[in-house]
Amino acid sequence: VSRKPLIAGNWKMNLDHLQSVALVQKLHWALKDAKHESDTVEVALFPPFTDLRTVQTLVDADKIPFALGAQDISAHDSGAYTGEISGAFLAKLDCSYVIIGHSERREHHNETDEVVASKVQAALRHGVVPVICVGETAEDLEKFGASAVPVGQLKIALENVPATGDIVVAYEPVWAIGSGQAATPEQAQDVCATLRSVVAETLGADAAERTRVLYGGSVKSNNIASFMREPDVDGALVGGGSLVADEFAAIIRFQK
Ligand code: G3H
Repeated sequence: VSRKPLIAGNWKMNLDHLQSVALVQKLHWALKDAKHESDTVEVALFPPFTDLRTVQTLVDADKIPFALGAQDISAHDSGAYTGEISGAFLAKLDCSYVIIGHSERREHHNETDEVVASKVQAALRHGVVPVICVGETAEDLEKFGASAVPVGQLKIALENVPATGDIVVAYEPVWAIGSGQAATPEQAQDVCATLRSVVAETLGADAAERTRVLYGGSVKSNNIASFMREPDVDGALVGGGSLVADEFAAIIRFQK
């Protein structure tokens, strides 16, 4: 299997303009002597919309090998949608990725599986790779086990995605997000493998083989290696651990 690991830093609603400059510069310094890492690990930063231009300029100017992503996208391409951000704008800002269906958007912004699916289509229309987030709450876990809810969410998100579609899947158990209580590597492997089989059923074996499935939820420098050892975990979606340069650098430098 030759999937390049992806370490994604979701800043959520943290870091203003100046703080984002400081973090990118510190990260750059922390990783400066480790050029080889960009060959073996892909790093993507997901700042708030208002920091995207700044981060893009910094990354360009210093030739920093970080990809850029947004935390959300409009399902629409343009027009009278006050406050929305189009995929066309993201593509112009060199966003390679966009997070779609994060549990915080599902919970606080009533994003249904159908909304998530239409945002996935919007991302694909603009050549931005959707990072499709799925995961069960503690209550779901108790009632249905770990896989049922994320599998259902992913199946709807993948409707109308072509077999050649470039996507990333992120398994984020809601109970593990920001709680300091990560899933075990075995739990993550189990659900990530199941999600890969959903990709195989819907998009085909080739897509399943090349699609990266990430784990997210309280990933830190002291547990990243244990997740990365699992065969179906191709990287991590990191929240809190991506806001501190030394910690995120240590996560990026995980050892298998
Ligand atoms: O998008 C990131 C996830 O919600 C994980 O957040 O690393 O702070 O638990 P966390």
